[in-house]
Amino acid sequence: FAGIITLPVVVHVVHNGEQIGQGRNISAAQVASQLEVLNEDFRRATGTNGFNNNPVGADIEIEFCLASLGPNGVELSEAGIHRYNGNKAAWTRTDIEGFLKPNTIWNPNDYLNIWTVDFEGESELLLGYAQFPSESALTGLPTSGGSASTDGVVVRYSSFGSSEKGSFSVMSPPYNKGRTLTHEVGHWLGLRHIWGDGPCGSDDFVTDTPEAAEPTRGCPAGKTSCGSVDMVQNYMDYSDDACMNIFTKGQKSRILAVMELSPRRKSLI
Ligand code: ARG
Ligand code: ZN
Ligand code: CA
Repeated sequence: FAGIITLPVVVHVVHNGEQIGQGRNISAAQVASQLEVLNEDFRRATGTNGFNNNPVGADIEIEFCLASLGPNGVELSEAGIHRYNGNKAAWTRTDIEGFLKPNTIWNPNDYLNIWTVDFEGESELLLGYAQFPSESALTGLPTSGGSASTDGVVVRYSSFGSSEKGSFSVMSPPYNKGRTLTHEVGHWLGLRHIWGDGPCGSDDFVTDTPEAAEPTRGCPAGKTSCGSVDMVQNYMDYSDDACMNIFTKGQKSRILAVMELSPRRKSLI
């Protein structure tokens, strides 16, 4: 691909009848703050929290824009936002996969679908999760990728957005700077967790991310494992939002390989 790729986004704001801007029915400003962070992080924008001076740090050269048109070509009253009353307070992952996504998804050939929800039950502690791409040609993709009716990412409403770009009462530290979406879109574009989801020796299929023994919480700079300093700043770790600031060149190649291989992501361009 030459130049910057821009992917249109729809955010399905799932609520329980709250007024716009209250509780789970998050404001357009909160959504906008999240899109800003996502773009700063993917573009490694100078002067933002998503900037780093690590020589392996990459500008992914992908941007995201709030869609201006809905599925039937109708102009949206709020760009990139679909408000949906799910008639319940909170959701399990099982309900989201089995009911919410298939009943609300917009054509994944045309949009990156994002759902903001409140989680409950076995999913209560989740910040978010993603569906991986399904291209078997790329090594190291989990087989969980797949159905077009569930394609996209899900993020907890209270971790969606950035408290640095506005005052959003549902958000609080340490997951209030928009990095959950950056992490989940990383998965959606084929990236694995930086520790390879296993002990030393487990692979994330990226050579310029050092091996790590386990996920890292907080921001312990200088932490070592597997004989090297852990890249706790990587968006694909579990560190605090304030800690994260890097995708590497190797992760970029993996993302671009998915973009080349994926009929769905290709058609979004
Ligand atoms: N637990 C989530 C996942 O595995 C996301 C972690 C996001 N971390 C953050 N600092 N926002 O997909
Ligand atoms: Zn993850
Ligand atoms: Ca690696």
